[in-house]
Parts: sequence; C-alpha cells; structure tokens
Amino acid sequence: MTNVTVLGLGNLGQALAATLLTAGHPTTVWNRSPEKAAGLAGRGAVPAASAAGAVATADLVVVALLDYPTVHDVLEPLAGALSGRTVVNLTSGTPEQARTLAAWAERNGVRYLDGAVMAVPQTVGTPEAFLFYSGSAQAYEEHRDLLALLGEPRHLGEDPGLALLQDIALLSGMYGMFAGHFQAVALGWTAGLSAVEVTAQLVRWLTALLPALPHFAAEMDSRDYTTETSNLAINATGLGNILAATERQGVPAGLLAPLQELFLRQLDAGHAAASLSRAVEELRAGA
Ligand SMILES: NC(=O)c1ccc[n+]([C@@H]2O[C@H](COP(=O)([O-])OP(=O)(O)OC[C@H]3O[C@@H](n4cnc5c(N)ncnc54)[C@H](OP(=O)(O)O)[C@@H]3O)[C@@H](O)[C@H]2O)c1
Repeated sequence: MTNVTVLGLGNLGQALAATLLTAGHPTTVWNRSPEKAAGLAGRGAVPAASAAGAVATADLVVVALLDYPTVHDVLEPLAGALSGRTVVNLTSGTPEQARTLAAWAERNGVRYLDGAVMAVPQTVGTPEAFLFYSGSAQAYEEHRDLLALLGEPRHLGEDPGLALLQDIALLSGMYGMFAGHFQAVALGWTAGLSAVEVTAQLVRWLTALLPALPHFAAEMDSRDYTTETSNLAINATGLGNILAATERQGVPAGLLAPLQELFLRQLDAGHAAASLSRAVEELRAGA
C-alpha cells in the first residue's frame, strides 16, 4: 500500500481520493476550503490542515487543482518537503505549462509525472476511464498499479507535455462534436423539433459515421488521399448548401464556416477529386 496525498478536493480530487481509499491506500487529503474533506474523512481519509502537512509523509502526491497557476501557488512553497518525492499532476493545462512545472520539479529534486484524465468524476475508477501520463517513466512504472485504479493508464513518453497534448487533441475533437450538435439543434428548432428529437437522430447518425474516422486517419498518415467515394468537391458543394440553408433559416452558420474555407482552399489547390480527409493538410503545422 502506498501513502498517497491528494491536493485539491474539487469534483475530480474527491473522486480520485475516494477511489484510492476504496482500494485501501492510506490517503491524506488537503483542500483550500477544508470542509470538502469531511466526506472523505468519514471514509477513512486523513485531512491535513495545510498542504505542507499533507505531503510530509507521502510516497505519492496526486494534484487536482483548478489550473497550473494554482498548482504553482500550492506546490512552490512545498519545494523542500516535496524533494525526493513523486508528484502526479492531473490538473488540466497546456503542454507548455506541464513542461514548465516539470522543469521546476527537476530543479527541486521532485520526480514529476504529468497526467490527463479522460473521464468525469463519476467514471473515475471505472473501466470507462482512461488517463494519459508523461514525464518520469521511472515514477510511472513504480506507481503503475496504483494509477491503474483511477482508470486505464498509458505513459506516452518522457516529454512531460505529451499527456496534455493528447488531452487537448481529444478535447478538440469533443468540442468539434459539440459545435455540430449545437448547430443541428438550432436548425431543428426552426422546424419546431425539440433538441431531444434532433439529438436522438444525430446520435444514430454520428454512431454510424464513427468508423469512418480510422479510415480517414490512415489516409492522413499515408498522405494517400485517393478516393472513389466522398471527395472534396462533393463535400464542398454539400457544406456550401448547408451553410446557405442554415442562414436562410435565420441560424448563424459561423461555427461550420471555417471548415468550408479549408475545403475551398483545397479545391483551389486542385484537389477536388481527393478524399474529404485531405482538408487536414490545411491544418498541418508549418504547412
Ligand atoms: N471534473 C472533471 O470532469 C475533470 C476531468 C478531467 C480533468 N479535470 C481537471 O482537473 C482539475 C480539477 O477539476 P475539478 O473538476 O475538480 O475542479 P473544481 O471542482 O472546480 O475544483 C477546483 C479545485 O481547485 C482548488 N482551487 C481553486 N483555486 C485555488 C487556489 N487559488 N488555491 C488553492 N486551491 C484552489 C479548489 O479549492 P476550493 O474547494 O477551496 O475552491 C478545488 O479543490 C481541473 O484542471 C480540471 O480541468 C477535471
């Protein structure tokens, strides 16, 4: 059993600490607003009066705070106490923020793992949850069994920014999906359809389309965009119609308009017969 400390008992920190307690790990908890530790204390957690007190005996410090500036505010005064210990930071942020914090940790003799939680608090500790880690492979290997309690763990490499890079990649896909959902609902409303009615059909449609993504991905990696089916020309025509019809319904079309710009630039460059997936070339960094 590992002596774990959880710093930050917001929605995520509470779920992390509860999962560790259920597995029998001695768990110390700290939160800026101490009342949030009460429920966990009832389940066997040891509430600490200060963050310094919380980390004093920890083999592993799990951090789930609002953002990276908060993590710096909380951890920097603890540099001495954390020296020689391992910190796993599951706070969301940018790859650059993770690298900066990892550099601070290294300067202070702290082993650092950055992590990204692909779960909501309710699914932490269930088979649905998965987490990305990056940074110290040694720390990851040492604590892998404990980390696996939170959700399926995957270490992406020593570069501490990798977990959050993967996080923002997946969240970008998620927000794109939300944009499409919002657009569909707004259109449905103009025809008197409820959001629930439109969404039921949208879920069915998106589910049928999901298998296309790995197919597109293979085209993108190989850069072979030869297609017999859904080419850029037909999609640019289709999306053009959708944008025009959306505006005629009085619904702003701005969420999807940038996608049409990618299609049109590819058409201008002579790729009308290429697969729709070729639009990604417009986003290639440094292109
Ligand atoms: N919830 C999720 O589904 C989820 C999933 C993946 C990743 N995350 C990430 O995990 C992190 C925590 O998320 P959450 O949902 O637990 O957020 P939350 O419920 O809003 O909790 C925020 C935590 O940060 C603390 N905090 C805020 N400002 C502080 C300060 N100045 N000094 C000290 N502590 C401070 C809060 O303490 P108080 O209680 O005192 O305010 C609380 O413990 C975020 O980066 C979030 O993006 C969340």
